[in-house]
Amino acid sequence: MKKHNFSAGPSVLPEVALENAAKAIFDFAGTGISVLSYSHRSKEFEAVLAEAKALFKELLNIPDNYKIYFVGGGASTQFFHIPANFLGKKAGYVNTGVWTKKAIKEAKYYGEVEVVASSEDKNFSYIPKGFEIPADLDYLYICTNNTIYGTEYKVDIDSPVPLFADMSSDILSRPVDVSKYALIYGGAQKNLAPAGVSFVIIREDMLGKVVRPLPTMMNVNTHVENDSMFNTPPVFPIFVLNETLKWLKSIGGVDEMYRRNVEKAELLYNEIDRNSLFRPTVAKEDRSLMNICFVMTEGNEELAPEFLEFAKERGMVGIKGHRLVGGFRASCYNALPKESVEALVACMQEFEALKTK
Ligand SMILES: Cc1ncc(COP(=O)(O)O)c(C=O)c1O
Repeated sequence: MKKHNFSAGPSVLPEVALENAAKAIFDFAGTGISVLSYSHRSKEFEAVLAEAKALFKELLNIPDNYKIYFVGGGASTQFFHIPANFLGKKAGYVNTGVWTKKAIKEAKYYGEVEVVASSEDKNFSYIPKGFEIPADLDYLYICTNNTIYGTEYKVDIDSPVPLFADMSSDILSRPVDVSKYALIYGGAQKNLAPAGVSFVIIREDMLGKVVRPLPTMMNVNTHVENDSMFNTPPVFPIFVLNETLKWLKSIGGVDEMYRRNVEKAELLYNEIDRNSLFRPTVAKEDRSLMNICFVMTEGNEELAPEFLEFAKERGMVGIKGHRLVGGFRASCYNALPKESVEALVACMQEFEALKTK
């Protein structure tokens, strides 16, 4: 039976990227050696790295005064790398869920943290808006897509202080005005690659603003100056990331990706709004295109385990909601085909017909 992979991360990747990765495991770029066993200092891998950086820049329209690098350790490593480099006195954080809470905890090791806005009062079911950003902050930190709760910023906010963003779960899913951010980073395991690598996009002027002496691997300058090659980078995830970027370019880039993501999300949200058994957990204006959360309607809560089983029997994978929200979460990342969303919608309709006849 065909499986539909709605997993929140690691997640579905483009088929062509997987095919090329599978081939490269046996023969990397015609070398006759596996990509898993070949030197990161080789001209073949250097070409992959250079292509990945160039494609990232092209696809996201990254201005020339920005650097991009890839580094291991996952997004959680950036939770402390960022304040280690840039939190001298006080930083501002917008608290929109678990991932910002974790980032706040790490930042507190380095200085004062002001939570300038939070949506904790309603279990992070919305994106705070209209908050004031104090001018004395070293930076303002946001998470643009909240993977667990299914909320997403729909605008690139204006900030009087350097704006830093965790875009782990919506990078390259929609156009972004990179010039509004001083730093954008994320783990790759949702829209880009297998787990094991993070991307960091940093405005050049920030490189001169590191506030304290740091161990070499923690300093952003190390990674920029050594072009992601200070130590052995995560070679295989970077290889797959490059294949994913090639695929994204081949389908028409971020504008086309966004169009497809809106189409997929509308299909599913429309069904959630229509279906008498399900309801959304997020207000319309803040609904994520990537992580679509929903629960059973009042009085039907006990049907949740049955629906999960029903959906599983029809090939749906990874739709159980995070324990902090409950219900269901269908992650509709870039590489998820529209057919998978159509299959989930059909499954919800079938379940409704069965239970309400
Ligand atoms: C938005 C966001 N930030 C950070 C993380 C943590 O990423 P990692 O597991 O790579 O440390 C996740 C993981 O799902 C996430 O969704």
